[in-house]
Amino acid sequence: MPELGVCYYPEHWPEELWADDARRMVNMGLSWVRIGEFAWSRIEPKPDQFNWDWLDRAIETLGAAGLKVVMSTSTATPPRWMLDRHPDMLAWDVEGRPRGFGSRRHYDFSHPGYREECVRIATILGERYGQNPYIHAWQIDNEYGCHDTTISYSPVALTAFQDWLRGKYESIDELNTRWGNVFWSMEYGDFDQIGLPNLTVTEPNPSHAMDFRRFASDQVVAFNQVQVDALRPLTDADLLHNYMGRITDFDHFAVGEPLDIATWDSYPLGFLEDRSDRDEGFKRDHARCGDPDFQAFHHDLYRAVGKGRWWVMEQQPGPVNWAPHNPEPAPGMVSLWALEAFAHGAEAVFFFRWRQAPFAQEQNHAGLLCPDGELSEGGKEVALLAQDLNDLPDLRSKDADVAIIFEYASQWAWEVQPQDAQFDYFRLVFEVYCELRRTGRSVDILPPETSDFGDRKQVFIPGLFAWTDALREAIERFDGEIIIGPRTGSRTKDFHIPDSLPPGLDGVKVTAVETLREDSPLALPQGGGLQIWREQIESDWSVLEADENDRPVRLQKENLTYWAGWPDAEALDRWLGVPSDGPRLRETVSGTVAIDYREASVSYPARPQGENST
Ligand code: GAL
Repeated sequence: MPELGVCYYPEHWPEELWADDARRMVNMGLSWVRIGEFAWSRIEPKPDQFNWDWLDRAIETLGAAGLKVVMSTSTATPPRWMLDRHPDMLAWDVEGRPRGFGSRRHYDFSHPGYREECVRIATILGERYGQNPYIHAWQIDNEYGCHDTTISYSPVALTAFQDWLRGKYESIDELNTRWGNVFWSMEYGDFDQIGLPNLTVTEPNPSHAMDFRRFASDQVVAFNQVQVDALRPLTDADLLHNYMGRITDFDHFAVGEPLDIATWDSYPLGFLEDRSDRDEGFKRDHARCGDPDFQAFHHDLYRAVGKGRWWVMEQQPGPVNWAPHNPEPAPGMVSLWALEAFAHGAEAVFFFRWRQAPFAQEQNHAGLLCPDGELSEGGKEVALLAQDLNDLPDLRSKDADVAIIFEYASQWAWEVQPQDAQFDYFRLVFEVYCELRRTGRSVDILPPETSDFGDRKQVFIPGLFAWTDALREAIERFDGEIIIGPRTGSRTKDFHIPDSLPPGLDGVKVTAVETLREDSPLALPQGGGLQIWREQIESDWSVLEADENDRPVRLQKENLTYWAGWPDAEALDRWLGVPSDGPRLRETVSGTVAIDYREASVSYPARPQGENST
């Protein structure tokens, strides 16, 4: 049965409140509570001096009340004294300035001393609580990459990057050749001469910039791995991390590899205001319900990152405090978002947070309780939702007929070399995803290391930077339809144009590309047009559609279709089927769930009582 939980900060409240808080959580129908992710300064107030009493009692109080506890490693918020121990541990911004103390995530992923401190605290926490019967899972750190913290241009990052390059290329001649450093006399005599790709006069070599992005991602993977290695021997509980919405600076599939569960933090209204490409009219119309596809996209993505096991670790229960505008959710939306997550296979949904904090940065961020302890509007909704959970059918996910490949490295590649200011890989993938959903399809997201598409019927591979061996193998094996492009396979892993020209498919060749101004899309005779990106093609494939000068736009050979441009909304409608703005659907083992943001309603296939619920 799907479960509910909440994020709680015992260190924020007088101890007299804890027992009553725990009792109220249980009465509300919550099963889980997450604690500890920002508590380092209270756990270790001075270097090597620990204060365990309060935390022992907090865990005991919550657990004894009947809650399952997610304990966290508090490494997202190193205490102030840590900077005295490691004055060079701060990350530096792109202008070469250290990012100071006074908020959170103030560390550089590649700082060896801080990494050791994280191993130390994870080990000490694991030794103390690894076998605690109330602790059922461990969260490592908090929201890697949030507040733009993956990439750092610090001296520490520079040294680590040079070492990383030495490991990858072994000889400087090899690096010079593979980067193409003869262009503009950029050849190096030694790895020590290589800088970070910021503060160059004009754009740096894309091979240099791309390696730096890979390096930055690898630092997150390694940072996470050392904490996994510290905790694993000390506990049998599940290990997890809470990812974010539209944060693409590190490879989540690689970070998720050693973890048991992927979780993510879902802020539907905040994200629509803060990180969406939708136009202002759309944002206005959806201001109180959120984008009907954004949450689902991340549910599907993190289901893949979690290898099937995933949760929502934080969900907005009311207005947040950090977006340009922070409206209140429409009645019913707090429950609908949670139910939608369950329909995509979530095992649990947690709300952020229990009681609204009357101090510090998030004073205007709603909780399930108001600062005075009374239930908030969101809290009332969650209490009702909890009563319905028993009646839900089995909502475990079933493979969808359609899948899209999503690759983090492709996001980095097209940030490094966008070619057009509007080109954004996430946007391209998301537009295809949304259109498929608007035609009523359930969509799975697959990593670029997929070597078998299973029983799926259709797989989309838009904008993939460089082919992976796994995908080549999967295509080889697959009988279903595969839709490739635009821009797929247009670089080698070293960031060169492939010798045989893109996209690296027999019988089709991209001979040139152009990009299109926002106000000048290329109209297509059959309706709609190409936007942002279009390619010129030489090919012996059948032409499914051409522009008015007879240049191919869509081509096909056997089960492969190639898109030689980025379709606008109308062209996508023609290419992918009849769309509607009605409910979105998700396949589950019990059948199809329909989710309608416009009505704040969810309908299930087969309730035990044989009726639909709204
Ligand atoms: C998340 C974060 C929480 C809290 C929340 C506010 O990104 O993990 O600690 O800050 O945002 O919406």
